Order: sequence, then C-alpha cells, then structure tokens
Amino acid sequence: MSDPAAGQNISSVLQEHRKFSPPPAFAEQANIRSEEAYQELWNRAKDDPAGFWADQARENLTWIEPFTETMSGEMPETKWFVGGKLNASAQCLDRHLDGWRRNKAAIVWEGEPGDTRTLTYQQLHREVCRFANVLKQLGVQTGDRVTLYMPMIPELVVAMLACARIGATHSIVFGGFSADAVADRNNDAQSKVIVTADGGWRRGKEVELKKAVDESLKKSSSVKKVVVVRRTGSSITMAPDRDYWWHDLMDAADADCDPTPVDSEHPLFILYTSGSTGKPKGVLHTTAGYVLGTMLTTRWVFDLKDDDTYWCTADIGWVTGHSYICYGPLANGATVVMYEGAPNWPDEGRFWEIIEKYRVSIFYTAPTAIRAFIKWGDDWPRQHDLSSLRLLGSVGEPINPEAWMWYHRVIGQERCPIVDTWWQTETGAIMISPLPGITPTKPGSCTRPLPGVVPDIVTKTGQSLGANQGGLLVMRQPWPSMLRTLYGDHERFRNTYFSEVPGCYFAGDGARRDEDGYYWVMGRVDDVLNVSGHRLSTMEVESALVSHPQVAEAAVVGFPHDLKGEGICCFVTLKQSDGDDQLKSDLVGHVRKQIGALATPDQIRFANGLPKTRSGKIMRRLLRDIAAGRESAGDTTTLEDYTILAKLRQEEE
Ligand code: WTA
Repeated sequence: MSDPAAGQNISSVLQEHRKFSPPPAFAEQANIRSEEAYQELWNRAKDDPAGFWADQARENLTWIEPFTETMSGEMPETKWFVGGKLNASAQCLDRHLDGWRRNKAAIVWEGEPGDTRTLTYQQLHREVCRFANVLKQLGVQTGDRVTLYMPMIPELVVAMLACARIGATHSIVFGGFSADAVADRNNDAQSKVIVTADGGWRRGKEVELKKAVDESLKKSSSVKKVVVVRRTGSSITMAPDRDYWWHDLMDAADADCDPTPVDSEHPLFILYTSGSTGKPKGVLHTTAGYVLGTMLTTRWVFDLKDDDTYWCTADIGWVTGHSYICYGPLANGATVVMYEGAPNWPDEGRFWEIIEKYRVSIFYTAPTAIRAFIKWGDDWPRQHDLSSLRLLGSVGEPINPEAWMWYHRVIGQERCPIVDTWWQTETGAIMISPLPGITPTKPGSCTRPLPGVVPDIVTKTGQSLGANQGGLLVMRQPWPSMLRTLYGDHERFRNTYFSEVPGCYFAGDGARRDEDGYYWVMGRVDDVLNVSGHRLSTMEVESALVSHPQVAEAAVVGFPHDLKGEGICCFVTLKQSDGDDQLKSDLVGHVRKQIGALATPDQIRFANGLPKTRSGKIMRRLLRDIAAGRESAGDTTTLEDYTILAKLRQEEE
C-alpha cells in the first residue's frame, strides 16, 4: 500500500453527541447495578484472569469432574479449565430439572404459517435424550461430526443438544444455503450424519431442504445416514437404508440417556463463516469456555430474569442463534421465543404481532432488520401493544445512529435501554456492549468491554492509539469463549487472526475509542475508503446518508479516481419515491453538511435493494466491482439475492 498511514489511522468523521442514561426503574432492578461493581469485575478479570475465570466457572458450570488448571498456554493456544469434565446439554437442561423450572417453558415456538408449540425444560430434556439415543443407534460416536441443515423448528435445538449430549460436534448449515454449500461443509467436516427436514416455510414458500440434501450427497460421501423431520408434508424421496423419518426413529427411542462427560476443551461445534475470498472457515468452539461465555453474557447484557420472555430473531444457522437462542439462554433457564419465518409474512407487522402475543420482554435483532422496519413505516409497530418490552438489542453490523434513534423511539418507546453488542462468530460470545442498568448509551457506539475482555485500538505494529484515533480493533488477552482453531487448518487460524498485529487477536474491524473510553466500530478494515489520503469508514458516510429523511438504507464504496485516489460511490435505497437528480444533489449536500467536504460523494446511485449476505450484512465487495465497472471476482455463495446484483448492473450509467 502506498499510503504510509494505511492500515493504521482511520479518520473518524461521525459526530454523535447524544447520550441516554439507563432509566432509573431499569437500573434499580438490573443484574449489574453499579458502576463500581462493573469496574471491580473488569479490573479483577484483567489483572487476575485465572482467578476471575476460575471463580466464574466454579459458580456457574456444573462439573462432572472439577478442572485442575484454569488457563494454560499463551494466546492463541490457551486451553481453559484443563482437566475438567462436563456436558453442555446437561448444563442447558438437566440442571433445571431439580427445581421449579422443570415445567417452565424453554421454547415457545411459532411457525410461519401460524402453528405453535411450547416445550418445557422437562419435555425438551426428554426429546434431547431420545434423539441422542437415535444418533447413537445410527452409529454416531463421541467426536464424530453431524451436519444440521434445518428450518427454524424446535427439532433443530433438540438435535444440537442431542449432539452435545453424546459429545458429537454439530455443524449447522443455514437453511438458505445451496446443495453445493452443504456438500462443501459436509466434506470439510467429514460429517457422518445429516439431519434435515422435508422443507421449511419462508415468505409463504417452501424451502426444499431434503431435495438440496439429496443433491449434496452426490458430492459428499462421508455422510451415511439422513434423518428427516416432517415439516411441510410435501413429497420427497427417501433412499432405503440411508434416509429415516425423525418421528419413526424417535418413537422407537428410549427417553433415558446419561450425558457423556467430555473434556472442557472437547469440540462442541463447527460453524462455517465466509472469508471475503477463498473457502469458508470452519470456526471451532469447545465446550466449557463457550458455554460459560454465552451463559454469563446473556445474564449481564440482557439482564435476564426468570420471568423474562426473551426473543432473538436470528437464525440458528448463524452464531447469534447458536449463542443467544440456544446455549446462553437455555444454560440460564430462560424462556426463549423461536420463530420460523420472515418478518414480513403475511404482512410487515409479524414481529410486532409476535411480541404482543407472547408479551416478549427482551428483543434482540439486527440493524439490517431495523432498517427494513423503518422503510416499511411506523404504522406497523404502532398497531401493536409493545408495552411488554423492557430491553432491546442489536447485533451484526454497526447500527447507524438514526436507525438507533428510531429503534429507541418507535420500538422502545423511549423506555427500553438498547444494548448494541459487538462480537463475532470467532469470539463466541458478546465482547463489547452496554450493561443496560449502568452504561449510558450513545447511538452508534457499542460502548465498553465486558469483564474479561481487554480490547485496544492499535496501529499495524501494535501501538495503542489515543482517543478518537481510528485504528485496528484487537484483543490483548485471551478469553474463554474464543475460537480454538479453524477446523482442519490450524495454520490458517494463526495467520488469519494472530499474525496481523503481533501478540494480539485481530479479526478485521476498524474502530475508535472516544474520550469516555467508548468503542465505535467502523466496520471491516477491508471496507475503508481512501479519499485524497484520508482513510474514511464507509459506515460513517452511510450513517450520514441514513440520517436524511428520505433514505432507508445506504452502502458506500470506493472506486478508482484519478485525482483523489478513491472516489465515493453511494448506493441508496429510498423509503418511498424513486429519486431524481434533485434528490441526488440534496444528498450530496446533506453528506457535506453532516461530515464535511472531504466526504463529498462523487456518485449517488438509487437502488431497489442492496446485495447482502444471508445474515444481512451488506456485501460492499460486490458493490466495489459494480462501482468500478468490473466483473465480480471471488466468492458469491453467501449472497442472498442474485437478482439484486443483476439489477444494479443494469442500472449502471
Ligand atoms: C460486525 C455476528 C458493529 C463486525 C455476531 C464483526 C458489528 C462482524 C456489531 C462479525 C456491532 C457485529 N457493531 N459491528 N454491534 N456486531 N458486527 O461473525 O464487523 O456474523 O466483525 O458475528 O459483524 O459478524 P459475525
């Protein structure tokens, strides 16, 4: 790179000074109630990590055999709770059966067509034990891999916990992925069994999962058995001696199955996450550290109480669903709402209807969804009673301040704290987030690190940067829920996360820390613009655009520019109108006013939609190709809607 500052400083131009204190009524009842308590926990975890984590692990996890050493080895090879044995499914289920929680609802499920099911902890336990016996009977042993390619139905959680119960490692493949993606993941993990369904419902249409599995098995020979849940009832083919109906196997299975004691560091799951190029990375998480991390963060960040009704809208195919639908909440004995389908089916009020119907108190969703709600209009939420809500969460991307304000005003009705939670598939659990009872929030900032998390903002050589200087977001200390390797490729693991900045974990985000020590994540460093020597975060220009009343969503990318090095190209979707030249020049003026002349957009392009990954992140890499007039190179398998790309290309001027 020719710019001497490249990869080091990123100028931050986002001016955001609004601040919201936790409402007193919330603060009074919060799990973490005082700033001193937070400081004490954070300092102890930083200065005496072994002591802090040993206490947490003894207090919160049920050990079949106690650990003998809390942490051993330097990052990235740190092992946690060495010598201990436990079982993740017992942690999520068996512990709750001794007392009153046995008949508490664990999962309150709603299918897209409107069918509902509730499973208490005791019922869930039975199902899990049964399916664990089914897996054993199909030849699955401790240490084997099982692929789960399923809709958002309770059987998915049952299958996850059944794998954990016998020490098999699950690899969940999001139901929107193609047959080829399933085959690649089966092959990489060498899965023995795949669990699927005939299909699932999405926006009124059937997603034909079993068909894709049949296709994938032509290319992945490690898989010997297929278990199929009957969900849609559509006709599918069942291969003899390979394919079995879930209900047939379950009917014959015994409901007693002791949890298999596994080592703390036993692989709990593999989850494939897309690299920007090359083949997907199989992020591996292990048992004790991961379960402890998700359990504690659920309690701290979501302020979870026994009478809460908690809803995380993520798909379990992503890490957010693993950590905050399954392991974290269930380890805490929570009541979890789970919904199968789309937010706009049969209409754009579906989420608000669900909140009203089940009296949801904690709601956790993603900025991409929030921007869609804004576009659909305030009338949808206004038609429903949202007074049960007491806490809102956001995850997955930086949240634009105006989207934050809308979430606060229209959904939270200015009553609910918002926790903007920064973390990654690789970190396993939330790392940087407000604690809702004590942390004053600033729209767009994920605020401060949780206890045990020691982040820094640094240059490429690892030097700490001062307040408000943008740089690389790193972790200086290991934490229990961090990934342990990339499955089958430990060298790639070391190169990807631990070689960029010496001695630190770095997973690709740029950020700054303000004068109050609050973190502002500016997005992936690969997305940074370099305009006339200024390194700008695309997210900050996008936030300026989104603060214009007519803009629903924006994606900003650089393109080669003779004078400036890079020019600024903005793809903008509008709330209503089609957009004309007048609006284009208004938007240019608006960005200049919000940020300054250095961020003046060179191009504004109106679009009906933006290319996103299936988990809702904008794929700026593809937009960069369009802005530069290039064909797209690199992996597009994670793209949600191919027609959007085609349309954007057609609209090229
Ligand atoms: C981004 C999702 C800003 C970030 C849990 C990170 C965020 C990547 C936030 C991980 C947030 C996630 N503010 N950016 N609150 N949460 N990100 O692996 O770029 O799907 O590196 O994990 O999402 O995405 P992943």
